[in-house]
Amino acid sequence: MIDHDAAPTPLVTRRLYTDESVLEREFATIFTDSWLLVGFESEIPEPGDYVTRRMGRDPVIMSRSESGDVHVLHNSCTHRGTQVCKAAFGNTANFRCGYHGWAFANDGRLRGMPGRRTNYDPDLDVSKLGLKQARVGSVHGLVFATFSDRVGELDEFLGDYRWYLDRIFGFFPGGMEVHGGAHRVVIRGNWKIHAENFSGDGYHLRIAHRTMFDLGVMGEQAGATKGFCVSTPQGHALRAQYVDDPALVDTVFGYPEEILEPARRKDLPGAMEFRAASSVIHGVLFPNAPLITTAPVQFGEDATGQTAFTQVRVVTPIDVHSHEVTYWSLVPKDAPEEWRRKSYLYSVRQHGAASYFEADDLENFRRIDAGLGGSGGADVPLNYDLGIGVPLGGEAPFTGPGTVVSQDFSEANQRNFYRRYLEVLDEVVAP
Ligand code: FES
Ligand code: FE
Repeated sequence: MIDHDAAPTPLVTRRLYTDESVLEREFATIFTDSWLLVGFESEIPEPGDYVTRRMGRDPVIMSRSESGDVHVLHNSCTHRGTQVCKAAFGNTANFRCGYHGWAFANDGRLRGMPGRRTNYDPDLDVSKLGLKQARVGSVHGLVFATFSDRVGELDEFLGDYRWYLDRIFGFFPGGMEVHGGAHRVVIRGNWKIHAENFSGDGYHLRIAHRTMFDLGVMGEQAGATKGFCVSTPQGHALRAQYVDDPALVDTVFGYPEEILEPARRKDLPGAMEFRAASSVIHGVLFPNAPLITTAPVQFGEDATGQTAFTQVRVVTPIDVHSHEVTYWSLVPKDAPEEWRRKSYLYSVRQHGAASYFEADDLENFRRIDAGLGGSGGADVPLNYDLGIGVPLGGEAPFTGPGTVVSQDFSEANQRNFYRRYLEVLDEVVAP
């Protein structure tokens, strides 16, 4: 068990959420020197399929070329910089720029220029005029990309968090895929509030979401739970909670037996112990990809009918006061279609853009933005002391890598998020 009080608490000043120059610095560092989640391979199953996304400030196209490879291309013409693809998704062999008509293949190569033979030097090297390609890596169908040469390989960036990704997205032998496409909304509040909330904020559940507990949506989770927080030096984190009742362990996951049985046989070390101790997992892939997965069988009889779901998001700043959220729901590929639909329904109903949990959270993000103000209270730092000096709640119920803090309510993950954030930002931000 680690010394969970050892790391100093980073000074989280309000300027981090209000100062335009901090956002500029974030775009230049956090959103440049990280592997960012762009989407999922299952969104583009066929050659020619594409989706458009944003990596920090950069518009990108995630496409599957004729050879079947996944590319992440800068969505900006190499002639004058015009976005070459305006649609959110589709299928095409070429992206044709709407300004002068240069045409780029779905692997980014420049394929055609109006007047190429008559108006350009025949020796012009068009192989240098393709769309800029990001470095691309994929883990269990999650597609990550970066334009930076300064960041190491994806494996190094994920570090110990890979162990948890394997047990969440690689748990089922057939893998998981996106169901229902990507949903996008713009919400009020600084993007970091959203990211740190998912990293480990179990503290707000019974206050901000009290109505859900009163209505019985959380079932037995409304009673005593145990929980733990996991974080890694790269800033990735998750928090999990569970009802401490041995009778429930054999009924974990809430997945149909026909797909759970192959997962049991897969025998991924520690997977059953970890998932059995995780009726709710929420976390963040640093810097900006929150995730949540639930197994509501443990929620008890009040919650009968609820279905396990897995959701991933990406939060991307628009300005200091607002950010765009992209939501995906993921289902096991091998689950029966009816079950997949139901899982999607609960993902959207509980944690989608207009869901009952989201209404509570987004209102608080908006109120934080309203409460930060300007210069009057700028010198009052925010507090991240939760859990410090409090005895740990015994051994963690599984053995996994990273820093595991056996506390249900702790801000250990948020402290780690901001430690890593300030490390990458490479600048001390004074109040
Ligand atoms: Fe794209 Fe001219 S800007 S062809
Ligand atoms: Fe919440």
